[in-house]
Amino acid sequence: MSRPLILAIETSCDETAVALVHGNDLVTSEVASQTALHQPFGGVVPEAASRSHLAKIKPLLDRTLATAGVAPGAIDAVAATRGPGLLTALLVGLAAGKGLAIGLNRPFIGVNHLEGHLLSPFFDAAAGPVRSVGLVVSGGHTLLVLLEKVGDYRLVGRTVDDAAGEAFDKVARLIGLPYPGGPEIDRLARKGDPTRYRLPRSMPGGSNFQFSFSGLKTAVRYLLPQLSGDFQADLAASFQEAVVDVLVRKTLAAARAHNCEVVGVSGGVSCNSRLRDRMEKACAAAGVTLNLARTDLTTDNAAMIGFAAVQRLQQGLIDDLGVDADPSLPLTVTGNG
Ligand code: KG4
Ligand code: ZN
Repeated sequence: MSRPLILAIETSCDETAVALVHGNDLVTSEVASQTALHQPFGGVVPEAASRSHLAKIKPLLDRTLATAGVAPGAIDAVAATRGPGLLTALLVGLAAGKGLAIGLNRPFIGVNHLEGHLLSPFFDAAAGPVRSVGLVVSGGHTLLVLLEKVGDYRLVGRTVDDAAGEAFDKVARLIGLPYPGGPEIDRLARKGDPTRYRLPRSMPGGSNFQFSFSGLKTAVRYLLPQLSGDFQADLAASFQEAVVDVLVRKTLAAARAHNCEVVGVSGGVSCNSRLRDRMEKACAAAGVTLNLARTDLTTDNAAMIGFAAVQRLQQGLIDDLGVDADPSLPLTVTGNG
């Protein structure tokens, strides 16, 4: 199948998402966000997330097909996220996807959510995914990956404690901003001075590509009682700068260490305007080609799942219907394993 039409489903956390992808082109991407549902709790409530996926998945599937004017019979394969994520949330999308594949008598592809993020910067690239260092920064993960080729991923570094998005969300909460805090800090930081508060950057040099953000969060916690007046924007900007500093410097150091001329950046935090800006400048200065995920495809979506499924289908990687949900599926396992 050179240019398959894929129906893709993503329900690993708090977004119910369905997309249609035709070869490397996006046809339509629909996301039913649960942000309002979880906001009063300051984080995702797994039981509420799966119940909401159950209620939303069928209407969203219908809407996606109607919006695109696609008849179910035209679909070549069905894909759904199989992990990592919340088990009961994953099961909703996986069961829906398998049911559709059975009903339509089409192949089924279980996709690793992290592979979806990792490949998403190459959606619009004519050559598709190429050898590169990928920074995946989201609410649940902070990874540096050497992408040799589709299906061959080597872990270069990861966070030893909080994910970058988790740090954004926790610090936002400390400052009194609503959940999810990443976009709120991004907005507030535009009005702030990033040099006002000197916050720690955890980055031992050399070939250490591990991340750590919990010390930074603790530093903000200890600083807060000493502050008064109109400090929020400066604090948001200073915190954001500390995170971005580490992400940019480690990503470029990893690209250098692995002789990569291309860098890909993806995941919810890659929507951050300061990260995008500084990454663009740093890559240009280093002569490295930067592929940033499209801003509408940074937070969880099904388009990236469909795109990853296309790459796998083109390599003949199809799952049998026994493929199971795995809440802690590692990125290096992309098939049935
Ligand atoms: O990729 P994603 O939707 O979910 C996971 O797979 O975890 O990422 C969500 C994370 C949240 O922590 C959210 O605060 C963060 O991405 N985020 C941002 C921005 N937009 C979303 N962080 C910083 N700046 C943003 N503009
Ligand atoms: Zn994600």
